[in-house]
Amino acid sequence: MKRFEGRRILVTGAAGGLGTALCARLVAEGAHVIGTDVSAKKLAGLEASIASNAGTLTTACIDQSDPKAAGQAVKTVIATQGKIDSLVNNAGIYPKATAEEQDVDEMRNVIDVNAIAATSIMGAVVPDMRRAGFGRIINVSSITFSLGFAELSAYVASKGALIGLARVWARELGPDGITVNCISPGAFQTDAEKIHPDPEGYNRFVLDQQSIKRRGTPEDFAHAAAFLLDAESGFVTGQNFLIDGGWVMQ
Ligand SMILES: NC(=O)c1ccc[n+]([C@@H]2O[C@H](COP(=O)([O-])OP(=O)(O)OC[C@H]3O[C@@H](n4cnc5c(N)ncnc54)[C@H](O)[C@@H]3O)[C@@H](O)[C@H]2O)c1
Repeated sequence: MKRFEGRRILVTGAAGGLGTALCARLVAEGAHVIGTDVSAKKLAGLEASIASNAGTLTTACIDQSDPKAAGQAVKTVIATQGKIDSLVNNAGIYPKATAEEQDVDEMRNVIDVNAIAATSIMGAVVPDMRRAGFGRIINVSSITFSLGFAELSAYVASKGALIGLARVWARELGPDGITVNCISPGAFQTDAEKIHPDPEGYNRFVLDQQSIKRRGTPEDFAHAAAFLLDAESGFVTGQNFLIDGGWVMQ
C-alpha cells in the first residue's frame, strides 16, 4: 500500500514551481490531490505533467485575492468532490517595494492572497478533519521572515503571519488530531527567484549563505512536506521547518 493511499490533500498554488513538485510526489505516493491555483493555464500544464498511475489529481481555479470567495470555493469543492484530510497553504505572491514606497493597497492584497485566504481555506476544510479526528495542515512561509529581506515588506509580513497562524491553529486543532506546521523554504529556482535582477550574482550569494553547497530543488521541498503530511508525523505540531540547505539556523 502506498503511503498516501486513501488520503485527500488540497494544495494551493499547485501549479507553481514548488506546488507542481509536491503534487507529483503526493500523487506518486497514492494521494488524491486537489490542486488549486489562480491560473487556469498553469493548472492545465500541471494536469498534463502528472502521471496518474498511482493517485489522482483534480484541479480547481481559485483566486485567493478574495479570501472569502476562496474559502467558499473550497467548500463547493468539498460538497461536490468529498472531504479533504490535509491542506498545504502554498500559494504566494512576492511583489517588491522599498519600505517607504510600499503601497498599502498592494500590501493588503499580498496579505489577503498569502495569509488571509489561507485562513478562510483552513476554515473550510477543518470541520471534516475535526469529525474524522485526523488532519494535516502546512503553511508555506519563508526564511525571509527570519532574515528580514529588503524590499519585501508585504511578503515578509504575510509570511510571518503564516507562522503565527500555524502556532495558534496547532493549539486549537491539536485536541482533534490535527497537526499544523510551517515549512520555510530558502531559495529555490522557481518563478519566485525572478524578482532578483542579477541571477548569477544571486546564485553565488545563495550558495555562499547555505551550508550545503548546491541549490535546493522543488523535490527537496516536496520531501519535507511529505514528511509532515505523513500519518506517522502526528506528534509534530506548531513547528517551523526551514528547508534552506543550512542557511538560517535557529
Ligand atoms: N521559490 C522560493 O525560493 C521560495 C522561497 C521561500 C518561500 N517560497 C514560497 O513557496 C510558495 C510557492 O512558491 P513557488 O516558488 O512555487 O512560486 P510560484 O510563483 O512558482 O508559485 C506560486 C503559485 O501561486 C499562485 N498564485 C498567485 N496568486 C494567486 C492567487 N491570487 N490565488 C491563487 N493562487 C495564486 C501562482 O499562480 C503560482 O502558481 C510561495 O508561498 C512562496 O512564497 C518560495
